[in-house]
Amino acid sequence: MLSASDTGASPHFTCRAPGAKAFSNCDSSDILGLVQISLANKSAIVTGAGRGIGRAIAETLAKAGASVLLTDIDEPALVEAKAAIEAAAPGAKLSTIAGDVTAPKFPEAVVAQAIKDFGGLAIIVNNAGYTWDSVIQKTTDEQFQAMLDIHVVAPFRLLRAAAPWLRETAKKEAEAGKIVMRKVVNITSISGLGGNAGQSGYSSGKAAIVGLTKTIAKEWGRYNVTVNAVAFGIIDTRLTRPMENAETKIAIGEREVQVGMQSQVREQVERSIPLGRMGTPEDAANSVLFFCSPLSDYVTGEVLVCGGGVHF
Ligand SMILES: NC(=O)c1ccc[n+]([C@@H]2O[C@H](COP(=O)([O-])OP(=O)(O)OC[C@H]3O[C@@H](n4cnc5c(N)ncnc54)[C@H](O)[C@@H]3O)[C@@H](O)[C@H]2O)c1
Repeated sequence: MLSASDTGASPHFTCRAPGAKAFSNCDSSDILGLVQISLANKSAIVTGAGRGIGRAIAETLAKAGASVLLTDIDEPALVEAKAAIEAAAPGAKLSTIAGDVTAPKFPEAVVAQAIKDFGGLAIIVNNAGYTWDSVIQKTTDEQFQAMLDIHVVAPFRLLRAAAPWLRETAKKEAEAGKIVMRKVVNITSISGLGGNAGQSGYSSGKAAIVGLTKTIAKEWGRYNVTVNAVAFGIIDTRLTRPMENAETKIAIGEREVQVGMQSQVREQVERSIPLGRMGTPEDAANSVLFFCSPLSDYVTGEVLVCGGGVHF
């Protein structure tokens, strides 16, 4: 085992020889056992943390020692996620705020609560999202706008709400001669990078968040904030389960929106994945952990594809 003092590396982490254990498909506890990443004394906001990938991200950050504010539109799912993470990461400091992240004032409330609950803000993960698919001739203005609202407008508002605190804090730290790295991770999709038939709204929103990521990386580098995106391929969650499953209908305002994939398409796509399987929420969370950790302190404005090798 090499300690930070042996290597002269950042005291944030210690590297261990990986031994014989395979890296593939390991959960966050396995990863953290191989490369110890401590997010102790860091606080995080994770949107869409009630289930799926967001819940796995919140759990992974909590296991690494971060305090996490979980937020989701689905309050029962949020309560369940918090209880499950408390059981998986005993002693973790967690709080919740339920609400629709596309409501104009909600992002400000989220940032205010994180600062109130944890006394600061080190990590923001813009993860909340859903699909509302159809070919362009059947896509309504409401549908297209909803995809932009959830995938780029809400993340924009959340980052704008955090800007005053982040800038002021970084300026005070600089005056005191301290450099404290902070992290933003925006969630995008291979659909936003390569396009996908039937997803004009979704892929437009997911492409737009890449532009926002690269721009804020340039604006916030001076405040020691890295801003990166992770583009997922096909991860096994409610969004990609067969459409006949009851869980693949979600309530958005007054509407019920069909998510999920046609079984045949799902099987076809799965066969095309070079690594031979869909990703798990834990696979997805592990790549987000990289961008939340000191391992990525000199990486900003980038998009990491986490998809088992698949691209659209
Ligand atoms: N599953 C995949 O294959 C895949 C692929 C590429 C990108 N993504 C992206 O990953 C992210 C997470 O998706 P998932 O697969 O975990 O889906 P999921 O449906 O399992 O979880 C998404 C969560 O976001 C919440 N949410 C949705 N709209 C919201 C709103 N307006 N306000 C607050 N919370 C809201 C939902 O309630 C849900 O708990 C999304 O941004 C999605 O687009 C997923």
